[in-house]
Amino acid sequence: MTQLNANSNSPNTIFSHSITSLNSLAPRLLDWFAENGRHDLPWQQHQTDTPNPYIVWLSEVMLQQTQVTTVLPYFARFMESFPTVQDLAAAEWDMVAEHWAGLGYYARARNLHKGAKQLVAVIDETGDFPQTLAGWEAISGVGPSTAGAIMAMGLHRYGVICDGNVKRVLTRWAAIDGDITKSATTKALWALAERLTPRENSGLFAQAMMDMGATLCTRSKPACLLCPLQEDCIAHAQGRETDYPVKAKKQPKPSKFSNALLIKDTDGKILWLQRPDNGIWGGLWSLPLQFVEKIDGKVSGKTTAKNSEASDDKRLKVASNEKVYEAEFTTAEQIINEWLDKLNIAAAPINKTLLDDAPIKHSLTHFHWYLTPQSLTLTNEQTADLTKALQVAEININWSNAKDAQATLGLPRAMVKILEQ
Ligand code: ADE
Ligand code: SF4
Repeated sequence: MTQLNANSNSPNTIFSHSITSLNSLAPRLLDWFAENGRHDLPWQQHQTDTPNPYIVWLSEVMLQQTQVTTVLPYFARFMESFPTVQDLAAAEWDMVAEHWAGLGYYARARNLHKGAKQLVAVIDETGDFPQTLAGWEAISGVGPSTAGAIMAMGLHRYGVICDGNVKRVLTRWAAIDGDITKSATTKALWALAERLTPRENSGLFAQAMMDMGATLCTRSKPACLLCPLQEDCIAHAQGRETDYPVKAKKQPKPSKFSNALLIKDTDGKILWLQRPDNGIWGGLWSLPLQFVEKIDGKVSGKTTAKNSEASDDKRLKVASNEKVYEAEFTTAEQIINEWLDKLNIAAAPINKTLLDDAPIKHSLTHFHWYLTPQSLTLTNEQTADLTKALQVAEININWSNAKDAQATLGLPRAMVKILEQ
């Protein structure tokens, strides 16, 4: 290993390995693959002179976040129902969704269907599948590595892959300790992958690399003794295989806090707002929300019912200065909150019952949302006044009790949780 270190500053390479190491990696890997690799996966195209890019594209999208053994039966069903890209493009979405159900990451299925239509458009126009890396990268759901895989394995042209498997192998082999979620590390890994990929046989090399990464250089128990890269693998020499790849811990999801206003009339009917089509819960009905600032781990304005009227008022103030909420803050909510503010300022006798219910927790993709129900009952006059203010602004509103709202309005799950608590 001293030899490796001695070569690390070699003027001929920016990589940590000697030129001999770099140059011999591909032949070593290809020898290993010929002897020990898997050659019977149904999407493999390395043993044919006329590769089918549809098969490689389809399988690569399926394999993006899913293991080979899981993908196998799905791939078989897709090929049976949609033997060509034209069949897939022409299929109804429901049919595609049904075939995909259980593979997870639904967006991939949507991209696959959209991608099939895009591919058919290219074929109709040019007579063939895309023939360049850029052409493939323009297809929905195809990133740089998938595009490289299709170029190399699906067209038998030159293509470089650098997916999760490759990154794991290369960070170990070269002891690259940068965070792989950082672009500088990604760049270094792509540069190394390009340096190692042979001009000839890049498809076979890609297949071998994936196979080695999936079967030998596994996440938690790499089989280094069987590995063709063992003799110059730096992580192995250090006994630190599983320290690589270095990946920053996922940031915990941020939390947001809102009041969900149960504004009731004297009959106990609740005010519902239809959310705008864009943004969260588009087109669904929701209670008016007040976005609350969180200060020092406490919700600003969070008080108990026993507290003073002044802090109750504060509690009903909106954190309108919070940029994060802007997109979720509707015109209707602005009107309601200003209307409530005015009432408070005028010290109108509002029969305000502030519940101190525990918030319900609702987790969305990008944040946890804590929604605290706040109940206030309006007088008939106030109900008419607020209704008019919203109608003038052409806001879709609905006064329904909890039972009717659940039965007849489309409510997001978080609203149902509030009503049911
Ligand atoms: N993972 C992603 N693509 C693969 C392939 N072609 N073979 C095996 N595993 C893979
Ligand atoms: Fe992975 Fe071990 Fe091979 Fe290194 S020697 S590439 S850690 S399997």
